[in-house]
Amino acid sequence: MTKSKIWSGRFSQQTASLMEEFSSSIGFDQKLFDADIAVNKAWANALTGVGVYTQEEAARVCSTLDNIKSDFYAGKLHFKNTDEDIHSANERWLTERLGDTGAKIHTGRSRNDQVVTDLRIYLRSGIDDLTDSVKSLQTILVDLAQKHVKTVFPGQTHLRQAQPVSFAFYVLSLFFQLQRDRERLSAARNRMNKMPLGSGAIAGAAFDINRIKLAEELGFDAPTENSYDATSDRDFVLELLYICAQIMLHLSRTAEDLIIWSSEAFRFIDIHEKFATGSSMMPQKKNPDSLELIRGKSARVIGNHVSGMTLMKGIPTAYVRDLQEDKEPVFDSLEQTIMSLKILKGVCETFTVNAQNMKNAVDPSLYATDLADYLVGKGLPFRKAHSVVGSIVAHAEKNKVSLKDLSLESYQDFSPLFDNDVYTLFDPYESIHKRNISGGTGPESVQNQLLIAKSII
Ligand code: ARG
Repeated sequence: MTKSKIWSGRFSQQTASLMEEFSSSIGFDQKLFDADIAVNKAWANALTGVGVYTQEEAARVCSTLDNIKSDFYAGKLHFKNTDEDIHSANERWLTERLGDTGAKIHTGRSRNDQVVTDLRIYLRSGIDDLTDSVKSLQTILVDLAQKHVKTVFPGQTHLRQAQPVSFAFYVLSLFFQLQRDRERLSAARNRMNKMPLGSGAIAGAAFDINRIKLAEELGFDAPTENSYDATSDRDFVLELLYICAQIMLHLSRTAEDLIIWSSEAFRFIDIHEKFATGSSMMPQKKNPDSLELIRGKSARVIGNHVSGMTLMKGIPTAYVRDLQEDKEPVFDSLEQTIMSLKILKGVCETFTVNAQNMKNAVDPSLYATDLADYLVGKGLPFRKAHSVVGSIVAHAEKNKVSLKDLSLESYQDFSPLFDNDVYTLFDPYESIHKRNISGGTGPESVQNQLLIAKSII
């Protein structure tokens, strides 16, 4: 029998082809190809330090790996059924080209430490791409907010009109949500940036490799501290899965806001045709599918996080083959989240804001809090003021008159503290100007938030 696999020495029977198919990860872990080439090159250099390779041999391994890389991208290399994963395929190609010199590459190494080293390298650059996508959405949000410091609309709580706020204030709320995501990404990247190589299968390699130098060569801050942990650990995968889910939650809620505000009932914004689609049946339709898909994809990315955690829940410490299932969810979450960020950026760059519709939608009842605050300003305790204004609202509703049109006499029937100046309250700009407290919707406060946002970018 030909020993066709990197591990088949002790086997006398061929693997069932069904098992080969079931066990293979090459369909998805080929994404790790570049990282695996880099890891192999660095490992070949490290093996010169322990007498496994001469400098010349290591140089030949490195140049052969470079050739494998260009041939791979030129489409000249093909996987075999016996290549379980990208690590086996690279070792086979190297050995086919270099004979025994290639056959030495796995000295002191296991795929258990190799796969997590590759994965950390891959996800580290995934985090960088994700961070760039978050940042460029934030940049668009700042541009958008700058234009709308004085655009007012009825802010809603419970999806019911609450208080007048500026559109810039809303837009910046997403900016700061995304800023927390960036902080999470940067912390996760720091934690991820340790190198497992040298851990072997569980116990550490029996060759005295200079791991500090090796870590440096691969762009890691340091080697991992404990090999048992390093080959077992997928915290860095779970953490990224969580962050992707968290970003998607932010995007999904925003998508929901924009879907509602672009609907016929609101018409606060118009989604650009570039990011809308039509109906195959109803000719009049322009649907917000870009936003609906962001909302829909958030379900899938949350599911990936749950898959990752469920995968880890009951397995023993150290490597088990279950861990191969870590890759597809995290690759998918990374791709879908980056794509969703880019789509939302496109939507926000192109929608038009109907400032007049927004302003017209502010119902006079939204000044009820300002009315209560007015009475507080005249010395009435807030709870009593709340109750007085509550009665006024009920009276106005019953008589089908707006708070703005209620006569001064009627106001004074409820409290002698009311005066003619009460009518100055019914202006959305008046209302937001009162809220220049830090963090508030007042224009000065929002300008200040813009300064903070700009300094972050
Ligand atoms: N393809 C495997 C994975 O992704 C690589 C590690 C295999 N190790 C092993 N001992 N079978 O987890």
